[in-house]
Amino acid sequence: MTRNDPIYLDANATTPLHPTVVEVMRPWVSEEFGNPSSSHPAGRRAAQAVNNARGQVAALLNARPEEIVFTGGGSEANNLALKGVAWGRRERGRHLIISGVEHPAVREPSRFLEREGWAVSVLPVDGCGRVDPQDVADALRPDTVLVSVMHANNETGSLNPLAEVATLCRERGVLVHTDAAQSVGKIPVNTEGLEVDLVTLAGHKLHGPKGVGALYVRDGLELEPLIHGAGHEQGRRAGTENVAGVVGLGAACRWAHTEGLVTYAEAVRERRDRIHELLAAALPGLALNGHPEERLPNTLNVSIPGVLGREVLAACPEVAASTGSACHEDADYPSEVLMAMGLSKDRALGSMRLSLSLLTGDEDVERAAAALAAAARSVGFQP
Ligand SMILES: Cc1ncc(COP(=O)(O)O)c(C=O)c1O
Repeated sequence: MTRNDPIYLDANATTPLHPTVVEVMRPWVSEEFGNPSSSHPAGRRAAQAVNNARGQVAALLNARPEEIVFTGGGSEANNLALKGVAWGRRERGRHLIISGVEHPAVREPSRFLEREGWAVSVLPVDGCGRVDPQDVADALRPDTVLVSVMHANNETGSLNPLAEVATLCRERGVLVHTDAAQSVGKIPVNTEGLEVDLVTLAGHKLHGPKGVGALYVRDGLELEPLIHGAGHEQGRRAGTENVAGVVGLGAACRWAHTEGLVTYAEAVRERRDRIHELLAAALPGLALNGHPEERLPNTLNVSIPGVLGREVLAACPEVAASTGSACHEDADYPSEVLMAMGLSKDRALGSMRLSLSLLTGDEDVERAAAALAAAARSVGFQP
């Protein structure tokens, strides 16, 4: 980004490559071009690079390398989890449970399965956007094969009580998937501690490349592939590996594991809370959407009374951010996530999502808050 670019507060949409990721990827987009399945030296080097990356992803998740399946991003990982389990376990039952605030990359595969004859229960969420484990327990049926509850919500950052959900599902022999595309690299995601069976991550949310992600699949779990072909990824995803992307994802995970996570939470949380404080002081009535504490440290979703969030952002060229409803930026269409939380349509339409990264500096915080407050006043905010 150049000096004159707007202040980037849209890290939940995507993040730039970390410089170490660029360095590690460089040979794999230039002189190194071997196919990891080839037995000559160039192929063996590529296979070694893919294996190394698999170990780096596994280390971040406290998993084993053989439990990592590389995919073409978070959406594919979610599709593989839902359809793969549903198809792989179709003889055991045809009922799935998802939360009411899932990303479309979980919601749509579950709708697809519904059209194919599966029953899908959608769990309610509370006013902070979190699932109640008791609702999961109540929704479980003898034919339930999978529960999919996201770790952190992309719009509000609210964190679900995943460990509780996983424990009660495990007692009933039901698999649990979590879409952790937003949490991996921002907070610790430990597959052992959480006791989940499948975890989605997406490279571009943690300063890795776009178009590459991974699905953690607990050892021994049967899964029907989405893409049939040769035996790549232990027969779970056919196709010659995206070596450069996978290497970049590995480097991003390694950076998160050894450096990023160590400083991320505190550095980013402080700046996020400072923006919140400045905005709340400048815009009386500003409301926080999402859980005050059980939330990603980088995410601030707020509603400004009496104005439209998208109009505020349009009047604020100094800041690059999103409204709560990134998929419907142009329409007067409230965010489904905020509506599922029981917020009024006006409050949902008044929302904007500010999501920070380690690249957000202290001076960005002051400048962004001042610019957003001025933009809100320019589009009619009345204290
Ligand atoms: C929670 C969540 N899941 C899945 C995805 C999709 O990931 P990808 O863009 O890599 O397909 C996103 C990206 O917006 C996301 O925020």
